[in-house]
Amino acid sequence: MMARTIAAAYRSVQPRRCGRLAQERGDARARIGYPQRMTMFNDRSTPLDLLLTRRSGKARDMIAPGPDADQLTQILRVASRVPDHGKLAPWRFVVIADAARERFAELLEGAYRAEKPAAGKLELKAMRDFATQAPTLVAVMSHPHPSSHIPLWEQQLSVGAACLNLLLAAHAQGFVANWLTGWANYSAAVRDALGEPGEIVAGFLFIGTPTKELDERPRPALDDVVRVWNG
Ligand SMILES: Cc1cc2nc3c(=O)[nH]c(=O)nc-3n(C[C@H](O)[C@H](O)[C@H](O)COP(=O)(O)O)c2cc1C
Repeated sequence: MMARTIAAAYRSVQPRRCGRLAQERGDARARIGYPQRMTMFNDRSTPLDLLLTRRSGKARDMIAPGPDADQLTQILRVASRVPDHGKLAPWRFVVIADAARERFAELLEGAYRAEKPAAGKLELKAMRDFATQAPTLVAVMSHPHPSSHIPLWEQQLSVGAACLNLLLAAHAQGFVANWLTGWANYSAAVRDALGEPGEIVAGFLFIGTPTKELDERPRPALDDVVRVWNG
């Protein structure tokens, strides 16, 4: 198999525009819309701008307002409109009601204490803080159909797509969202309390209004993650 980078492929189709390597990389990235420098996050000017500038907020920095009931319904509608081989809907969305956030904190704290009887105050506080941060919380559950001929892997890919669509819909509404897992994600007690038999928590998706300016995180250079297969 012969693999080549985008820049190399670009050189092969645009030979007269060859220049220094950095220049070529810049050209290739500009051609496929890779932002040279991020100046604004979650820019809602156009759908493509939003996708190119998507940036999660930090759940711990989110305050009210979160989405109202109608906005949340819309977010969940978007989240359930994802590629789904076999039309299995292999995901479920568990909205943690505002009035139940404190109860959710108790659940996490109790589950943590049961698993780690020697846990200190700080660890237990971290559980409580996790559960109560940000105005809105949706647990996304993987809801596999084991008897289906669709491989489990493909069903799980659809769950990931649902999570991303949920994030994007929240950002499209002007909120920020954050997909977190952490200890609670892998606790059998938490899974049993939230899920139906066979479900697994795919993530806790927090939504709210940011209090801090977002900053960029390292992103891979496209040349490092894209290759062209030429046969
Ligand atoms: C399945 C999954 C679980 C994650 N869990 C955590 C987590 O527990 N803590 C965390 O800091 N980031 C976690 N992240 C990463 C953040 O959600 C976020 O994607 C990351 O900070 C990059 O920001 P971006 O979404 O703006 O690209 C997780 C991401 C995925 C896909």
